[in-house]
Amino acid sequence: MTPQTDDQKLRLAHERAQQLLEQMTLREKIGQMTQVEKNSITPDEVREHAIGSVLSGGGGNPEPNSPQAWRDMVTSFVEASRTSRLGIPILYGVDAVHGHNNVKDATIFPHNIGLGATGNEDLVERIARATATEVSATGAQWNFAPAVSIPLDIRWGRTYEGYGQDTGLVARLASSYVKGLRGSDWAAPEAVLPSVKHFIGDGAARYGTSVRLQRLAQGDDRTMANAGVDDDMQKYLDAGAWTIDQGDAEGTDAWLREVALPPYRRAIEAGALNVMASYSTWNGTRMHANRELLQGLLKDELGFQGFVVSDWEAMEMLNPDYPTAIATSIEAGVDMSMVPFDYVRFIDTVELLVEDGRLSLERIDDAVRRILAVKIRMGLLDEPYDLPYISVVGSASHRSLAREAVAASQVLLKNKGDLLPLKKASLSILVAGEAAADVGLGCGGWTISWMGSRGSITRGSTILDGVRRHAQDCEIHHEPSGDGSVMADVGIVVVHEEPYAEGMGDRHELALPSDQVALVQRIRKRVDSLVVVLISGRPVVLGEVAEWADAIIAGWLPGSEADGVADPLFGATRYQAKLRYLWPVDQEHYPLHPFGEAQGVDQVVGAAWPIGFGLETEALD
Ligand code: GLC
Repeated sequence: MTPQTDDQKLRLAHERAQQLLEQMTLREKIGQMTQVEKNSITPDEVREHAIGSVLSGGGGNPEPNSPQAWRDMVTSFVEASRTSRLGIPILYGVDAVHGHNNVKDATIFPHNIGLGATGNEDLVERIARATATEVSATGAQWNFAPAVSIPLDIRWGRTYEGYGQDTGLVARLASSYVKGLRGSDWAAPEAVLPSVKHFIGDGAARYGTSVRLQRLAQGDDRTMANAGVDDDMQKYLDAGAWTIDQGDAEGTDAWLREVALPPYRRAIEAGALNVMASYSTWNGTRMHANRELLQGLLKDELGFQGFVVSDWEAMEMLNPDYPTAIATSIEAGVDMSMVPFDYVRFIDTVELLVEDGRLSLERIDDAVRRILAVKIRMGLLDEPYDLPYISVVGSASHRSLAREAVAASQVLLKNKGDLLPLKKASLSILVAGEAAADVGLGCGGWTISWMGSRGSITRGSTILDGVRRHAQDCEIHHEPSGDGSVMADVGIVVVHEEPYAEGMGDRHELALPSDQVALVQRIRKRVDSLVVVLISGRPVVLGEVAEWADAIIAGWLPGSEADGVADPLFGATRYQAKLRYLWPVDQEHYPLHPFGEAQGVDQVVGAAWPIGFGLETEALD
């Protein structure tokens, strides 16, 4: 018998879903459309309400935050759901956007902006596979990744979640990531459901159009309160937080289809079974209410047979009248609501909307059938399988893969006199900058907590560790603040952005912070040759630093194996990575338009380095 194709298996899953659907009460159906964050529900309530999914938002960790505690927590929810009347297991969802990044001591891979710089499809697929194994080992089966955003204005706080501004590359890497999460089959024990996000055009939101501030102003923003950012909120708002994220994207249908759509098309061709709707709007219509694009383009035209999940609290943001907001979004094509807090209100509201005829039972059945078909296709309704050994979380082989990715992601922007790779012969080296020896700064946002943070937040290595490993015969000094007096042959200054997530990372301007510029200036005076490594979630305006440095490297956000930054620096590997974002030369030219011809704007005005730029070196034998 010839093996069934994915399409055939999905069709069969839809047939099985229809049979299951016919046994369900209306409330059980609505329960499947409900996703709740893990602090807002108990396992018993999951069973009682036949809940479809539970999630950990950014930082939604158990206490203690350990791989085993994660496995115990997730398993308690999954097993409770298996004892509901029909025994339909939940999907447990996490944001494992650069490894299983909420879990302490998991492997943290470079953020997508670094993976995009590698352009390496096989590497991305291997990283997704490793991520899927670590996610599976903790019992979760759904990863809210890959983001396939095409960030236009890099002042956006989610720029680093994108692979780049090159649509073809983003489409290829999205496909690789989906295949990596799938592994041998969607029903295989270590397969994890991807959520391709955020549909559609999230990266095209324009500066100054975000609507999130309205919610903040109302003072009922539980998400911000939960994220523990209240105390610093004014500092972030002054810097530009929430000026772009969740804003309005404007463009032609041709641009949407040529630039934003291909990554979704390729991900669906690779078998993707879930898409997350975007908070943003497209030409003034909020995506969570955009029937033309959700039902029309994604489901009808592309033939997407999986299900659409909302973003966090996104449905209720559509309209101050809650029932109207919910009805509008479900009617537009959102199948599951990431509620995530007041789930009983959601279930009661949808039940009333159906009883009042404001939502058709056909639409409810369509949504639930899609959700059930994905669960069936993922093997969730088959005999439970043994989870991978918990020791796979943060394993040596995964860390080795992460270090390989770090080394391959480093973009060499300047290399005066072929300074790099450094020839180690009895060099004296001065390493400066806090980020040279700080795991948290190297990981960036979406690490252990939503925003990420500096410090030894998880097990990992630093750039300084890498320098020490490669230059054991050299005299090495480390000055986090660069306030010393030692002179040296070579200075390696690591400058950084403070970690951020989503709209908290939106900025009015992208200049290197003045304290970082001053640090480079101090070291410049004490070394013969100066190397500047930039740890950031996006290109930033370097100003005078670009002149002072003999060599400049975009290190991006390397993750827990930041020692890999030193591999090409000392010639253990080659520099070959390329920029996938235009690099602004000053503050005057935002947003740089990588698709100049598509938007009638000169794409290179204001660019220090274009997309595709990156100097190359040879490895030292
Ligand atoms: C967030 C993000 C989305 C994430 C979700 C769950 O607000 O927009 O990317 O997957 O909520 O954490």
